[in-house]
Amino acid sequence: TGGMRIAIDGPAAAGKSTIAKLVARKLGYTYIDTGAMYRAITYKVLQNAVDPHDEEAIAQLVGQAEIELQQGEQAQKVILDGRDVTEVIRSHEVTSQVSAIAALTSVRQLLMKKQQNLAKDSSVVMDGRDIGTSVLPDAELKIFMTASVEERAERRLLEEKQRGNTVDYETLKGEISARDKADSEREISPLKKAEDAIIIDTTGKTIEEVTNSIVEYAEKRL
Ligand code: C5P
Repeated sequence: TGGMRIAIDGPAAAGKSTIAKLVARKLGYTYIDTGAMYRAITYKVLQNAVDPHDEEAIAQLVGQAEIELQQGEQAQKVILDGRDVTEVIRSHEVTSQVSAIAALTSVRQLLMKKQQNLAKDSSVVMDGRDIGTSVLPDAELKIFMTASVEERAERRLLEEKQRGNTVDYETLKGEISARDKADSEREISPLKKAEDAIIIDTTGKTIEEVTNSIVEYAEKRL
């Protein structure tokens, strides 16, 4: 049988990219991190010191941006205009601005087109906020991944510690909630469960458990 498109959406830090990567590896599919694309654009806006409210200037910048997602052995690399931005797009500055940039029509239109093109002739696992609702509305499998905000903040705290960053739990929890609120309340393609998506609450579950259950759903639908 042929392949399929798997859409994984959900709030910030629910484990989507970790799981999506593993599911893609198990099935031999391409993993596409759409959040990384919004982050790369946000990074470019910040680098060019463009006013985040100047939509016209941002649209122009986005039009010129070349974003490439490279599949590596271990991790995926994000290349913006020929430069490796994999690490810098995870900075606190980018994270705090990305929801505002991602709410702009021109940004969403362009990135959505890129994302649809990437899924056109290959089997993909794509994660984001609006994949099941807008980018790939006819994806063969849709997952809506959630976890309690406390657990999400704890997971993020661990990640930040491993990166050598000191942040406190309450701050992280507040930032995660604020990003979810902005992403859910924006006008264009907000974060929302697709009607036909399967909800997976990852609270208290291991990475392996969640990965295996998605692979099982996929295999049933192949
Ligand atoms: O997935 P990640 O947390 O890296 O996404 C960063 C931000 O990019 C989200 O908070 C959201 O504002 C935006 N995003 C989006 N649509 C997607 C993926 C990400 O608006 N499909």
